[in-house]
Amino acid sequence: MMDLTSNYLGLNLKNPLIIGSSGLTSSISEIKKLEKFGAAAVVLKSIFEEEIVNEIEHQHQEAEKNTFIYNQYSETFDYLDLHLKEERLNEYIQLIKSAKKEVLIPIIASINCISNAEWVGFAKRLQEAGADALELNISLNPIDLKTIDFELTIKQIIQKVLAQLTIPVAIKINNNFTHMAKTILELSETGISGLVLFNRAYTPNINIHTLEAVQGKTFSSPDSYVESMRYIALLSDQVKCSLAASTGIHTSETLIKQILAGADAVQVVSSIYENGAEHIGTLLNGLEKWMEEKGFSSVEQFKGKASSKNVGNPAVFERIQFMKHFAGIN
Ligand SMILES: Cc1cc2nc3c(=O)[nH]c(=O)nc-3n(C[C@H](O)[C@H](O)[C@H](O)COP(=O)(O)O)c2cc1C
Repeated sequence: MMDLTSNYLGLNLKNPLIIGSSGLTSSISEIKKLEKFGAAAVVLKSIFEEEIVNEIEHQHQEAEKNTFIYNQYSETFDYLDLHLKEERLNEYIQLIKSAKKEVLIPIIASINCISNAEWVGFAKRLQEAGADALELNISLNPIDLKTIDFELTIKQIIQKVLAQLTIPVAIKINNNFTHMAKTILELSETGISGLVLFNRAYTPNINIHTLEAVQGKTFSSPDSYVESMRYIALLSDQVKCSLAASTGIHTSETLIKQILAGADAVQVVSSIYENGAEHIGTLLNGLEKWMEEKGFSSVEQFKGKASSKNVGNPAVFERIQFMKHFAGIN
């Protein structure tokens, strides 16, 4: 019997396959199905900080139009804030509570945030609802010219959230920092329990027939795992927290590569959208078959075996520019 267990964020997972935050995890029936097909944990669809703030602002504008309410009951604003937050949160909290009742796998709540504003108070409610961990998708916009220091902003968010919570906190980041390796290492030392490398950014495109700006591909392609694998291989021996690989994991081969690089878990989304929850079984069967062929009886036995420290030629992961004798082509 193969031992597929892996520890991620201090959670004992029955295998390393987590379903990442997306519409796949936004209802209890879907979560049950994902568990049935073998998922070890799910990250719930995110609550978006902007969404909450926008709704509050919209209600403020509506209330301002009604001068009677505005003049007579100025505390209406406080009421609206409270009411809206309650409504949005209650749905999410209910989902966590039902999931905790109806499935055995860990439930990781998710907040998509860009600041350390008042939403941070919500995080505690998610913990109280029973979430096993919280994943923060800190999506700072790379074309934002106003935020001076992205790393500092992220650290301030982490500090504020960690001060409120006792459950493990993971941070999901994009791969567009000035000094990627330094940022990953420094974030891993902030007290968080894990890093998710990487979030997949929204991809815009241009239609050359209509000359319009359009949405690009919603789903990742099977070769887009490399950047994540590269940084995991380079840093898994040095980080002070768990690592989850995310983006482009469509096959069991890729899943295996990420664990060989040193990932404690992988998060899968696009390939489940494309192939259905049954694909979880295919990925796990492929993992077991490979382990059998290679003579590994547990995931721990091969985790990190191809990390930068353990491979003979770490330059493969470090090199950023083709050179003639590396590319092998003229
Ligand atoms: C339809 C869809 C919805 C998503 N929603 C969220 C979300 O709410 N929060 C989040 O952190 N990531 C979200 N993601 C990103 C995924 O969690 C994941 O990081 C990304 O798709 C890369 O993994 P993949 O290559 O397996 O798809 C979404 C992705 C898709 C395709």
